[in-house]
Amino acid sequence: MGKIYAIANQKGGVGKTTTSVNLAASLAATRKKVLLVDLDPQGNATMGSGIDKNDQEFTIYDVLVGLTRVDNTLQLSSAGHFYVLPANGDLTAAEVEMLTMDSKEYRLSKALASVRSQFDYIIIDCPPSLNMLTVNGLTACDGVIIPMQCEYYALEGLSALVNTINTIQSVLNPNLKIEGLLRTMYDPRNSLTGDVSAQLSSHFGDRLYRTCIPRNVRLAEAPSFGLPVLAYDKQSKGSLAYIALAGEIIRRNEAAVPVAEVTAN
Ligand SMILES: Nc1ncnc2c1ncn2[C@@H]1O[C@H](COP(=O)(O)OP(=O)(O)O)[C@@H](O)[C@H]1O
Ligand SMILES: [Mg+2]
Repeated sequence: MGKIYAIANQKGGVGKTTTSVNLAASLAATRKKVLLVDLDPQGNATMGSGIDKNDQEFTIYDVLVGLTRVDNTLQLSSAGHFYVLPANGDLTAAEVEMLTMDSKEYRLSKALASVRSQFDYIIIDCPPSLNMLTVNGLTACDGVIIPMQCEYYALEGLSALVNTINTIQSVLNPNLKIEGLLRTMYDPRNSLTGDVSAQLSSHFGDRLYRTCIPRNVRLAEAPSFGLPVLAYDKQSKGSLAYIALAGEIIRRNEAAVPVAEVTAN
């Protein structure tokens, strides 16, 4: 059964979408079957995967409000070798429409159940807020990956996110956990970086990924060509970092497989 990870942080501009697209591509490069779910009306993950958000018959909006099934909606990112459940501005309406629908917090979870067995990893790119879309993302996943910059205010925002995750875990999704914290736009020369890293490490222990994503201009350039960085500049520091992150996630995941499950295969 595939693992579902939500990439979430209510702060904008911390690297959620960059991480979603490049982690999806890096996992796919190791021959994992990957689905990237764009849960942000901005549709940046869709465009960054080389799929035109404004040229779709169906998007995640149609799936969430029950107009079509997921398997009618998936698009192949040919540059990234993974599938995408695309989003565009229509998704803003879903947030409102879902409020009066049955099981409004579980609509994404229910939709993904039908395709989950086809994938090793499903990555959900969440919007920069703690709204009903994000609730759907957190209810649909097994774990949350939190990208963050090592700056003072990042820690403040983190406690609001951790509280939300705890609430959703106790009310809606008992399996939910923080899968990992990812340091993005990492600059070891900045003195605050070391302080914040030490605090994160003492608070989150081994849930802090050892891999850090450096600030790298290739990561910022690649989306304008509709390419994951792996396809744009494979040897760049940003590309190598996301490949390392995929390796760290796969190793953690495979180390966590219960013995009974291993012997059964
Ligand atoms: N490691 C990085 N190095 C350089 N630029 C980055 C990096 N990560 C993200 N960016 C750029 O920062 C901006 C915000 O990143 P994005 O992934 O869209 O954040 P979010 O999805 O959290 O809003 C984008 O312009 C992106 O290209
Ligand atoms: Mg984003």
